[in-house]
Amino acid sequence: MEKGLKRSGVMVVVAFLAMVHVSLSVPFIMLHGIASHCSDATNANFTQLLTNLSGSPGFCVEIGNGVVTSLFLPLTQQAEIACENVKQMKELSQGYNIVGRSQGNLVARGLIEFCDDGPPVYNYISLAGPHAGISSIPPAICGLKSDPACKKFDELIKGALYSEFIQDHLAPSGYYKIPNDINEYLESSKYLPKLNNEIPDQRNQTYKDRFTILQNLVLVKFQDDEIITPNDSTWFGFYPEGEFEPLLSPNQTKLYTEDWIGLKTLDDAGKVKFVSVAGGHLNMADQDVVKHVVPYLQNQPSSVQSFNRKTKEPLHP
Ligand SMILES: *[C@@H]1O[C@H](CO)[C@@H](O)[C@H](O)[C@H]1NC(C)=O
Ligand SMILES: *[C@@H]1O[C@H](CO)[C@@H](O)[C@H](O)[C@H]1NC(C)=O
Ligand SMILES: *[C@@H]1O[C@H](CO)[C@@H](O)[C@H](O)[C@H]1NC(C)=O
Ligand SMILES: *[C@@H]1O[C@H](CO)[C@@H](O)[C@H](O)[C@H]1NC(C)=O
Ligand SMILES: *[C@@H]1O[C@H](CO)[C@@H](O)[C@H](O)[C@H]1NC(C)=O
Repeated sequence: MEKGLKRSGVMVVVAFLAMVHVSLSVPFIMLHGIASHCSDATNANFTQLLTNLSGSPGFCVEIGNGVVTSLFLPLTQQAEIACENVKQMKELSQGYNIVGRSQGNLVARGLIEFCDDGPPVYNYISLAGPHAGISSIPPAICGLKSDPACKKFDELIKGALYSEFIQDHLAPSGYYKIPNDINEYLESSKYLPKLNNEIPDQRNQTYKDRFTILQNLVLVKFQDDEIITPNDSTWFGFYPEGEFEPLLSPNQTKLYTEDWIGLKTLDDAGKVKFVSVAGGHLNMADQDVVKHVVPYLQNQPSSVQSFNRKTKEPLHP
C-alpha cells in the first residue's frame, strides 16, 4: 500500500514535469530560400526533422505562393507579409525562434528588425544567409530547374541590377552589392542598405535595438558554398567599399566596428556563434544539424524564463 502511494506520487511528479515540459516548449519558424516553397520535399522534411530532433513545434512560414513570390516580390514586401503571418499565429504569441535558409535569412532579419508589434524572437539560426550581400551573380541561381519562373528570372537579371524596374521585380536584386559600385548600391538598392543600417543619415536605432535583443545568433557558413559569393557574407564578412579585395572578416567591417545593427554588441556579449560546416550551399550533415541548430530550438530555461508573461517584453538577466 505504502509502495503504491509512493509510486503514484512519483507518477504525479513525472506527469507534472511532462506538462511543464510541453507548456514551456518554444516554437520555431522556418523561412525557406529562393525558388522553393514550404511543401516541397526539402523544406517539409527539414522542418519535420528539426521538430523531431528538438521536440519543439515548428512551422514553415510561407510568403505568398512560395516559388514565384520568393523570386519576384521585393524583400521589403516579403518581410511585411512574414510580419503579418507571424502576428496571426497564436502559437508564436509568447515568442519564438527562427531558422532561415539562404535568402529566407533576409526575410528573417526583416522580421526581426522591421516588424512592429511582432512577438519576440529569442534565438535566430541562419543557414547560408547572404547577410552582407552577394558580390556577383551566381552561376544561374535557378540551376537547371526547368521552372518557367526561372527562365523569366534569367531574362530579368540580365538587365540593370539597380534600376527601379529590377529592384521592384526581382527579389535578389535587393541584396546584390557590387563592391566597386557602392554609391549606386546605397542610392538605389531598396533592401540591404536599410536592413544593414548602411546609409549614414538614415540609420534607425530601432532596427539595432530589435536585433540586439536576440539571445543567440547562430551564423552557419558552408565551406563549399557555390551560391553565396563571397561565402563569408553568411558571417557578415565582405569586401571593403570600392574594392574586390581583400575579403574582410566580420569584425573588420564597418557594419561591425561601428555597430550599425548591434552585431558587435551581440558578439561582445558572447551571443554570436560563427559556425563553419563542410558541404555545399545548405547541404548540412545531420550531425551538424544536431550540433549547431537543435540546441537552440530546445527548451532552454534561459529562453523561457526571460520574458515577462504580461507585457511579453524580454527580460534581460
Ligand atoms: C525526407 O525524410 C525521410 C525520412 O527521414 C527520408 O527518407 C527522405 O529521403 C527525405 N527526403 C528528402 C527529399 O530529403
Ligand atoms: C519524424 O518523426 C516521424 C515519427 O517518428 C517519422 O515518421 C518521420 O519520418 C520523421 N521525419 C524526419 C524528417 O525525420
Ligand atoms: C525607425 O523605425 C521605426 C520602426 O519601424 C519607426 O517607427 C521609426 O519611424 C523609424 N525612425 C525613423 C527616423 O525613420
Ligand atoms: C569559402 O570561404 C573560404 C574563406 O573563408 C574560402 O577559403 C573558400 O574557398 C570559400 N569557398 C568557396 C566555394 O568559395
Ligand atoms: C576578429 O575575429 C578574429 C576571428 O574570429 C579573431 O581572431 C580576432 O581576435 C577578432 N578581432 C577583434 C578585434 O575582435
